[in-house]
Amino acid sequence: MSDLIEGYLGKTVERKKSRVPAKLDYIQSATGLILGLFMWGHMLLVSSILLGEDVMYTVTKLLEASFIIDGGSPILVSIAALVIFIIFITHAAMGMRKLPGSFKQYQVMKAHANNMGHEDTKLWFTQAFTGFAMFFLGSIHLYIIMTNSDAIGPYASSDRIWSEWMWPLYILLLLAVEFHGTIGLYRLAVKWGWFDGDDPKAARAKLKTWKKILTYFFLILGFLTLAAYMKIGMDNAAAGKVGERYQPSAQVIEYKINSGRVA
Ligand code: HEM
Repeated sequence: MSDLIEGYLGKTVERKKSRVPAKLDYIQSATGLILGLFMWGHMLLVSSILLGEDVMYTVTKLLEASFIIDGGSPILVSIAALVIFIIFITHAAMGMRKLPGSFKQYQVMKAHANNMGHEDTKLWFTQAFTGFAMFFLGSIHLYIIMTNSDAIGPYASSDRIWSEWMWPLYILLLLAVEFHGTIGLYRLAVKWGWFDGDDPKAARAKLKTWKKILTYFFLILGFLTLAAYMKIGMDNAAAGKVGERYQPSAQVIEYKINSGRVA
């Protein structure tokens, strides 16, 4: 009954407003923080290809827990991707509440933001646009990774990116995720006052500088990484080696020693 009254009047019988929106805001912040920090780690791991194919291979095997399971187990990566997928969808659902529901609402919000001339308010539009794009692009990536976790590695990833046409999607996803992630973490820090100290205004200026540095850093790292995978994928395609799995240098040398070809 009280739900019914609140549904019509927007207030409970005790004349209180629901706490649900505040709780949903909290869930949005918490899932955003997890995803933002996860993406920094993810980009550093994926960029291991820049240090060489052997390094990326080692990182992949470590994430498959090869130190306890002989040869590693890709199912662990599928489980991690599923957990991230659930957090990702929860975060998107919480974000959707804030999107304008009609063109009229959009016009009102736009006019309000322009009228205020407040940079941080305008950032909201970037968040809404990149978030919307990520919902589609990120879902495709996560589903493919979740169902093909045994095909991650220096050659398998490069073939997916080049020969299976993932590179256009990754360009768009990379742009969306880097802007969305750093703006999101900046807005979280401002909203909850994590680094305010004695002078919140000065803290905000510093956070803005960090936002810029981190956006550039991860964008440059991301595009260099993508270029490295594309180059390997192109070379594999030219050599007719698409679908072949990478053999770490140590194993190749061992094989050659055993077959008596290398002393
Ligand atoms: C546990 C979850 C995840 C795993 C295991 C994972 C794994 C990977 C792997 C192995 C690559 C290299 C390319 C490939 O093999 O296809 C990659 C690239 C990429 N991932 Fe993820 N990913 C995860 C979650 C996410 C999420 C949530 C996003 C953003 C919504 C994302 C965005 C990207 C982007 C933009 C690239 C291209 C990076 C570049 O080339 O610079 N990933 N991911």
